[in-house]
Amino acid sequence: MILITGGAGYIGSHTAIALLEENNDILIVDNLENSSIKSIDRIKEITGKSFKFHKGDIRNEDFLLSIFQNYEIKAVMHFAGLKSVGESNCYPMKYFDNNVIGFLSLIKVMQKFDCKKIVFSSSATVYGNPTELPVKESAQLSSINPYGRSKLIIEQILEDIYNSDKSWNISILRYFNPVGAHESGLIGEDPKNVPTNLFPIVSKVASGELTSLEIYGNDYATHDGTGVRDYIHVTDLAKGHICALSKFNSDGSIFSLNLGTGKGYSVLDVIKEFEAVSGKKIAYNIVDKRIGDSASCYADPAYAKKYMNWSSKFSLRKMCEDQWRWQQSNK
Ligand code: NAD
Ligand code: WQD
Repeated sequence: MILITGGAGYIGSHTAIALLEENNDILIVDNLENSSIKSIDRIKEITGKSFKFHKGDIRNEDFLLSIFQNYEIKAVMHFAGLKSVGESNCYPMKYFDNNVIGFLSLIKVMQKFDCKKIVFSSSATVYGNPTELPVKESAQLSSINPYGRSKLIIEQILEDIYNSDKSWNISILRYFNPVGAHESGLIGEDPKNVPTNLFPIVSKVASGELTSLEIYGNDYATHDGTGVRDYIHVTDLAKGHICALSKFNSDGSIFSLNLGTGKGYSVLDVIKEFEAVSGKKIAYNIVDKRIGDSASCYADPAYAKKYMNWSSKFSLRKMCEDQWRWQQSNK
C-alpha cells in the first residue's frame, strides 16, 4: 500500500487519481488544514475506486504509528506541507514546524517500520533566483525565503539519510509552477486563504470573483517585460510521481529531478490564453515588482526524460481550459 500524506490537497489528490488508475492500493492522510474532505469523495467519484482516508497531522507521531501498525505501507508520497511563500515570511516558525518537523516525524516512523521508499514534493524554489536558464538539476541551490529553506533543509536531510543507509529509495521532485485541474472539473486547487499565485487569481478575475489582476512589473528582461515561468499541468505532474515510483529498486537510489515543461510563458501570455479560453476580458494593472521574484525561471526537463522517461504532454491552452472548467464548477 502507498501512503499519500497531504493527499486531499491539490497535487496529492491528482496523484492519488493517477495511482488508483494504475491499480495501486493507496491510503491518504491529511489534516485538512488546506483542503476539504470533498476532494476525497471526488477522487472516489472520478476513479470509481475505494481507498482509506485518515484525518490526522503528520507531526503527531502516535497517529502515524497507528497508520503504519494497521497498514502495510511499502512507500510514501509526501505532499503534506504548507506552501505560501508570503505567509512563510511572516510566520517562519509555522513553516519550519509544519514542513520540517512534520517530515522528521514521518521519517522516524518510516524507519521504525523499515519503510525506506519516499517521493518528496520539492520545488523549483530550491534554485533561488536562477542564474542560468533553462535550470538544470546541477544548478546551485539556495533559499530566499523560509518556505524555500524548509524544502532545501528536507532535501539535505534526505541526502544524509541516503548516505547513511543506501538501501533507501528517495525521489526528490522539484516542481516548477503547477497549474490547471483534473479535466472532469471535479478537483483542482482550492486554497483556503486568498490566492497569491497567478493562475488562481487570473481565473477568479475571469469569473468576476476578483475585479482585476495586479501584474508585478513589466520591465523585466523578458519578451514582453512581464515575468516568465514554466507552468506545468497538474496531471502531467501527477504522472511524474508514478514514473518516479517505478524507478525504485532493491539496491536503493536517490535522485532529484525537475518536473517542468521546459517552456517559459509570461504573465501577458497567460492572460491572452486565458481570455481566449474563457471568452472573458482579464482586467489588469501594472504595479511594482514583487520582492524576491525573478524575471525568468524554466526547467531543463531533459534529465527526467532520460532517467524515468517522463515528459509533460499538456499545452498552456489545456492548462487554461482545465483551470477554467474547475473555476466554473467550484463556485
Ligand atoms: P495543498 O495545500 O493543496 O496540499 C497540501 C496538503 O497537505 C493539504 O491538503 C493540507 O491540508 C495537508 N497538510 C498540511 N500540513 C499537514 C500536516 N502537518 N499533516 C497532515 N496534512 C497536512 O498544496 P499542494 O499545492 O498540493 O502542494 C503539495 C506539496 O507540493 C507541498 O509540499 C508543496 O510545498 C509542494 N509544492 C507545491 C507547489 C505549488 O505551486 N502548488 C510547487 C512546488 C512544490
Ligand atoms: C508567477 C508569475 C509573478 C501573481 C510560486 C512559489 C514557488 C512555487 C510556485 C511552491 C510571476 C506573476 C503573480 C500576481 C503577477 N510554489 N504574478 N501577479 O512566484 O513563480 O512561484 O509558486 O513551491 O515556490 O514562489 O508563482 O504564480 O506567484 O507567479 O504578476 O498577482 O506571475 O510575478 O512572474 P511563482 P506565482
